[in-house]
Amino acid sequence: MRTMLYEARQTTLPGLKTPEQEYWELINRGGCSFYEALSVLDKIGWDFKDFTTQYLTHKFHSYPARFIPQIPLTFIKLFTKEGETVLDPFCGCGTTLVEAFLNNRNSIGNDFNPLATLISKVKVTLIEDEEFRYLKEKLKKMKSRLDLDYKRIDKRLKSLPNRKLSKIFNRAVISKLEAIRETLLEIKEEGGHEDIFDLGRVSLSSTVWSLVENGGGIDVDVDDLFMKKVHSMEKELKKMAKIVKKIPDVKIINGDARRLEVEMNTVDLIVTSPPYVNALDYYRVHMYNMLWLGMDFDLFRRHEIGAHSNFINNRFRLLSGYLGDMLRSMIEMNRVLKKNKLCVIVVGNSSLEYELIESYKFFADMSKFIGFKPLKTYFRNIDKTRKYTSADIGKIDDEYILVLQKVNDAEVSASDGGFVADIVTQQMDKFKKQIEKVQGTSVRGRKPTKERLLENVDKIKEAIAHIPDDVKMERQR
Ligand SMILES: C[S@@+](CC[C@H](N)C(=O)[O-])C[C@H]1O[C@@H](n2cnc3c(N)ncnc32)[C@H](O)[C@@H]1O
Repeated sequence: MRTMLYEARQTTLPGLKTPEQEYWELINRGGCSFYEALSVLDKIGWDFKDFTTQYLTHKFHSYPARFIPQIPLTFIKLFTKEGETVLDPFCGCGTTLVEAFLNNRNSIGNDFNPLATLISKVKVTLIEDEEFRYLKEKLKKMKSRLDLDYKRIDKRLKSLPNRKLSKIFNRAVISKLEAIRETLLEIKEEGGHEDIFDLGRVSLSSTVWSLVENGGGIDVDVDDLFMKKVHSMEKELKKMAKIVKKIPDVKIINGDARRLEVEMNTVDLIVTSPPYVNALDYYRVHMYNMLWLGMDFDLFRRHEIGAHSNFINNRFRLLSGYLGDMLRSMIEMNRVLKKNKLCVIVVGNSSLEYELIESYKFFADMSKFIGFKPLKTYFRNIDKTRKYTSADIGKIDDEYILVLQKVNDAEVSASDGGFVADIVTQQMDKFKKQIEKVQGTSVRGRKPTKERLLENVDKIKEAIAHIPDDVKMERQR
């Protein structure tokens, strides 16, 4: 069995170090200088091949395109002290926050997806035994009154916006999910049990996710599955409580990374992985869970960065919109970060119309206009068994870790549409020149004709003409 990272430090035997123990020693350099810490980054094996990545509360809920905990952990250990503040403006399921929490750093997590912020919150909230007893008592009562009242279920089904649910889940499954949902609502109404209520919701969401992944849950004992998840969460939170010496502050914001609700110059480190251009629509992935939790996925859809449901006719317009959104988010990251501190952005390449989109290069280039200095870039292979694949983009099999340092204030606001349009135009012009020289940089499978590939140059020209509209914050979606 693989050694869990946080156990690695207790079991070191001389001459018998595992790669995880060696890594742990490398990042545990209390008191080293900024430049020493930077040089340690060059010694890290960023692939983290065969490392355990699902430990403690990281296990709570699956989440697409999450990054491995070792990435935020490395920067947290090397570049912050206990009590300092780490921010992830696209926190997803809270990987950065969990690592900050385990290492006694305060943290701020922001994400527009309400499911993401719920999962994040639950992963870093320790809960008293008494509250677990209370939840289990409620669930025991629920079990005794579980019924298969199909009329009631059909009524509920009709009230759900997406009728396809009835094809995915059979009536017995729906009935049980409903009973769990109602029990949780009862807990909410009683008041005073907010944390266990939220944990129950994450457990319900994770149950729904498992059912979707297994094709609808035929023959699955839903309440049993739900209970198992609650038990396992309780166990992991208990383990975590033993590791955390002093509970740090955690702030979780359900908001837009392009206008962060965070004070300027207050953050000591940013580690984040933004959405990829054209990669996946999170709102689609999470639709069923969000439906069951009564969350508004349409509001999220309209604010989602990188989603590909728009600009179907010209995908390069999607790219300029994306670059505009990312530039605004990076201006916000600069505003909240203290001077000389690091902003680490983890992103993979994408593919649009047979062309390779190297997002990290765009980010590094744009960062220089807003007070950042690119210091280092690391490439890492993603574990083949864990990477996210999508029919639209093919495989995401590598990613880049871009290390930026804030050297100045951005001196521009994220809401400055003129500035954003200028920088994006510059980036898209450069991109057009590259495509004029070499086309088909990301062809997988059958190669399209030269004529088809050259059409891309016209498409990019068209996208450039639309930049002032396409980079608007409140554009139509
Ligand atoms: C690659 S994921 C981050 C995963 C995260 N590092 C983790 O380990 O779970 C990108 C996240 O960006 C979020 N997102 C998309 N548009 C956003 C916006 N406008 N503001 C804030 N978050 C947004 C998505 O909901 C998604 O959770």
